[in-house]
Amino acid sequence: MNSPVGDALALVRGDLEAHRVAVRAERSEQLPRINGDPVQLQQVLVNLMTNAVDSMASMNGERVLCVRSEVHESGSVVVSVEDTGNGIEAEATDQIFNPLFTTKAHGMGMGLSICRSIIEAHNGRL
Ligand SMILES: Nc1ncnc2c1ncn2[C@@H]1O[C@H](COP(=O)(O)OP(=O)(O)O)[C@@H](O)[C@H]1O
Ligand SMILES: [Mg+2]
Repeated sequence: MNSPVGDALALVRGDLEAHRVAVRAERSEQLPRINGDPVQLQQVLVNLMTNAVDSMASMNGERVLCVRSEVHESGSVVVSVEDTGNGIEAEATDQIFNPLFTTKAHGMGMGLSICRSIIEAHNGRL
């Protein structure tokens, strides 16, 4: 998973720089290899990182994207994408994975729905 994480970070680099977002990457070097489609997994990460940038773009204060990979005690690989934006409204947390749900003026609302399908097709959880 460190390879799609690195590829995704490279793809959003311009966007991160344009919005003055600092990146903190904490990669475990001991990740077990997983079977999966590298391009699909990279696409999921790009989507999550783009949402993170969107959430910080109109915000004052520190803008940090933190991407971490680690091994869970169950043996699963966990990748987390965290931002210093305002977070998700409590009443929206049930809806964000629904197709067409968006709170953005020009949002499509398809990103998280597609991401979840990809991760579930890899026997994972988002
Ligand atoms: N990092 C985030 N911070 C805050 N809200 C988020 C974040 N990621 C997703 N969301 C919420 O989930 C909604 C759906 O996201 P997504 O499916 O990617 O569609 P879109 O980005 O087109 O709105 C967003 O409109 C936003 O309300
Ligand atoms: Mg999105």
